[in-house]
This record gives sequence, C-alpha cells and structure tokens, in this order.
Amino acid sequence: MSDYILDMRGIVKDFNGVKALDGIDLKVRAGEIVGLCGENGAGKSTLMKVLSAVYPHGTWQGQIFWEGKELKAENIRQTEEAGIVIIHQELMLVPQLSVAENIFMGNEITLPGGLMNYSAMYKRAEELMAELKMPDVNVALPVFHYGGGHQQLIEIAKAINKKAKLLILDEPTSSLTKSETAILLDIIRDLKRKNVACVMISHKLDEVAAVCDTVSVIRDGTHVGTRPMSEIDTNEIITMMVGREIKNLFPREEHPIGDVFFEARNVTCLDVNNPARKRVDNISFKLRKGEILGVAGLVGAGRTELAMAIFGCYPGQSSAELWLDGKKIDVGSPRDAVTQGICLVPEDRKRHGIVPLQGVGANITMAVLENYAKFGTIDAEAEMAQIQKSIARMRIKTAAPNLPIKGLSGGNQQKAVLSKMLLPKPKVLILDEPTRGVDVGAKYEIYKLMFELVKEGLSIIMISSELPEVLGISDRVLVIGEGQLRGDFVNQGLTQEQVLAAALGHTEELAA
Ligand SMILES: Nc1ncnc2c1ncn2[C@@H]1O[C@H](COP(=O)(O)OP(=O)(O)OP(=O)(O)O)[C@@H](O)[C@H]1O
Ligand SMILES: [Mg+2]
Repeated sequence: MSDYILDMRGIVKDFNGVKALDGIDLKVRAGEIVGLCGENGAGKSTLMKVLSAVYPHGTWQGQIFWEGKELKAENIRQTEEAGIVIIHQELMLVPQLSVAENIFMGNEITLPGGLMNYSAMYKRAEELMAELKMPDVNVALPVFHYGGGHQQLIEIAKAINKKAKLLILDEPTSSLTKSETAILLDIIRDLKRKNVACVMISHKLDEVAAVCDTVSVIRDGTHVGTRPMSEIDTNEIITMMVGREIKNLFPREEHPIGDVFFEARNVTCLDVNNPARKRVDNISFKLRKGEILGVAGLVGAGRTELAMAIFGCYPGQSSAELWLDGKKIDVGSPRDAVTQGICLVPEDRKRHGIVPLQGVGANITMAVLENYAKFGTIDAEAEMAQIQKSIARMRIKTAAPNLPIKGLSGGNQQKAVLSKMLLPKPKVLILDEPTRGVDVGAKYEIYKLMFELVKEGLSIIMISSELPEVLGISDRVLVIGEGQLRGDFVNQGLTQEQVLAAALGHTEELAA
C-alpha cells in the first residue's frame, strides 16, 4: 500500500450536472509508468486536471493521497511544489517568448536584488536542451521559430526543470515525428530510472505498450480496469476501451474509382520567413473521382503547405494551376475554395478549425450559415435540425449543442470540425491528419465515413503521419519529402518500407 506515491479515490467531477468522472480510482507507484487509456471524452484529461489542481480541491468529490498524505491543492503552483507536473494536451507555451523564458516562466532564476539572471537561465536551458537531445535549439529565440515537435520537447524541458516526482503527459506524441517520439519515450524511461513516475495519456497504443508498466482504462467516467502491461496486449486494451472487440482497424471497402476529377499542377509555395526556400517545390498530381489519395511523408516535409496552398491560404506566396471536373479554377482564398467545392479540415484545429468560445453547433454550421437565411434572419429551427443530424452522424459527445466547443474533449472537437467541412457539400475533401488525437473507436467511424463519402462520388486527399493508416485506407499514395514529390504509388502491396524509403529520398520507381 505504502509503495504508492499517488492514490486517487472515488473521484467525481461534473460540469453543469453532467458527470465527466463518476467515482474513479487511480494509483501510481514511485517510478511507475502508467498508461491512461480511454475513448474520446472518457474523462482522461479531466482526471489529470483534478490531480494537478487545474480544478482545485472542493470543485470535485473524492480524495487524493500524495506520498501518504491527503492533498487538498488549490492551484497548480501547489501541486507543482508537491512534485506533480502536468503537460497539457494543447501546448501552453507563449510563442513570442524565448525558449529559455518559457522554460523558466513562473520559476525564474533571479539575482540577489530581484533582477532576472538571464545567463544562469540560458545556461540551464541549454543543458536541458542537450539532455533532451536537441542541442541545436537556440534558447534565446522565440518559441514560434520551432515546430510542434520541438515545442512539445520544450514543454518537457520545462517540466523536468521543475523536479517532478510525477509527470503527467496528456497525448505527448500526437504532433511528434517518429524520431522525436523515440527521444521522448527514452526520456520517460530515463526519468523512471531516476524514480520519477509518469502518467501518460495516449491513443497510440503501441507507444503505451512500449513504455508503460501498467495500463488503466476508463470509459464514460468510470474505471474499467488496471492491468500490468506484461499481461495484456493492445487488442485487449482496445476491447477494454470500447467495450467490444474491433477486429479490423482499417475497415476498407471496395468502391468504384472514376476518371481524373481534380488536378494540381506545379504547386509551389515559398517559406514566409525565408523566401529563398520553397516549402512546396513544383508538385503536380491527379485525383480521381471517388478516390482516396493518401499523402505520406515526414513531419515538416511540406504536406500541410501543399494542402493549404491548394486551399488558397497563401495568396501571393504560392502558385498552382488547378483543374476541377475538367475546368480550370482560380482559388484566391479558402472561401473561394469552399465555393468551388474544395474543403479542408486543418491539422491544427485550435488555430484554424474552431472558434473556441462559440457553441458546438455554431461551429458546425459556421461555413454554411447562408443556407439558413430566411427573410434576413436565420432559420434557427432548420439550423438546429442540421446540427442535431451532424452530432448524431459523427457521435459527437456533448451535453448540449450550444455549449462552448472548448469544453469538448480533443477528439470530439476534431469530429465537430470534420462535420463542419462536410456541410458545404465538397467535391474534393482534404483531410490533414484527420485522426490525430482521436480514439480507436472514433477512428473507425471516421474511416467508415470516408468510405461512405467516396461511394457518394467525393474525392478525398488524406494527409497522415500514421503509415498504417495511409496504407490501410488509401487507394493511391503520394510521398512528399523536402517539399518535393518523391513518389506516387498505387496502393497494392505497398509497404511501409517502400513509403519511408521514398520519403527519405531513396527513390526507386515512380509509378504514375
Ligand atoms: N470545461 C468543460 N466544460 C464542460 N464539459 C467538459 C469540460 N471539460 C470536459 N468536459 C466534458 O467531460 C468529458 C470528459 O472530457 P475529457 O476532456 O476529460 O476527455 P478525454 O478522455 O481527455 O478525451 P480525449 O481523448 O478526446 O482528449 C467530456 O464529455 C467533455 O465534454
Ligand atoms: Mg483529453
């Protein structure tokens, strides 16, 4: 009993009468790595926010024992002082501040007299970067210079610097590359050796299996079970999560593929910060009617820029010749693109996908509000009917359609953004990392939906960093590397190795 440093008992948390947590227990030993798994909206993030006092003592029921004593923390500062450090699902860095300033925010090293001791902070920040195998990071530069993967590791540096005894990672690898993920998992193992415990929330069950000692699964705010990782495999975790077995993770369905329907020629996009560099370098490709075209490549290869350039996000900075259904089209803005039948579900939903404080429903109908215009006002009834339909189709978990979308779990926000982009009835749908942060069950539903859509004649471009997903779902696969087209493969017998080799520039054949 006493070897547990953390013992959460019977935690109950509700939001406006809706129970997000309904009596959950969670125990963690010193140096133990616990995987916390569950579907979108199961309550994982909420449980960790209770633990770290984002929700202070008194705003939930139950008890938390930390190192044998009851913890009644009122704010994050107190839990951090106790050694509990959380890294949230959505990154919390201040982009304009330097890497060092972010690491030491609220925890500054000062000189006697109170002035900031920048040289000490820079030195320590550099040490941390070296420890995290990112020696090339300039700690004096603003954080926005670095991509999502680096930012995630900078968050980790910040946490390590706080001398955590328990590190909570809420989906830490969702925006990391394979190599960054490997570094992170190594860091977690390293911390374990130093007796630091870790709770890792992740939908990537292979990572959970690779690093965790124990797995705890929750469903609908209740505890389903806790098992040593050595006794179960990822399939069993899935069964515990969704309450049923999912045999085939990629429910591929036969569907007819028509003639070339969309074509992009010579897409080029310059780097804003460095116009001498091309983020997308003269890429051309074709998309057939009813086809799912997977776009693979390493993170930073230029896939998102390719999609955003086609979608008209970079006027003046990008060029492309586009044909849709045999006609040349001009896309000067995302609005243009939507009007002509091209929709894009962005990768970074927080920045481009949602209006956080608006209702779930308002977010869904945002792009098609004019459809409900009636005598100069909005036909609220028709709009609500559509919202209900969308919520039901995607099984978006929300207590009410008018609650702010911000309150939804990450995966459910993603489903809402997807619903929003289906309403303009696109002919070409571009999905950028559509299943990031989405649980296995919901992933399955998103794939099913994609097959329904292509059967209706839509064409889909799916950018994904998950190779099993690209290979499991696509009809054809484009491989992008360093802004260039490195491969265009028919997905028949295509292997992960072939795609990776192409991404890295070890090109063999270019099948058209
Ligand atoms: N601030 C909030 N206001 C209202 N409801 C909330 C709030 N935060 C969470 N909820 C609700 O509590 C439930 C649990 O959400 P939580 O974010 O903990 O899920 P999760 O397991 O982390 O999911 P995901 O895998 O999608 O991140 C959801 O139904 C969510 O809508
Ligand atoms: Mg969450």
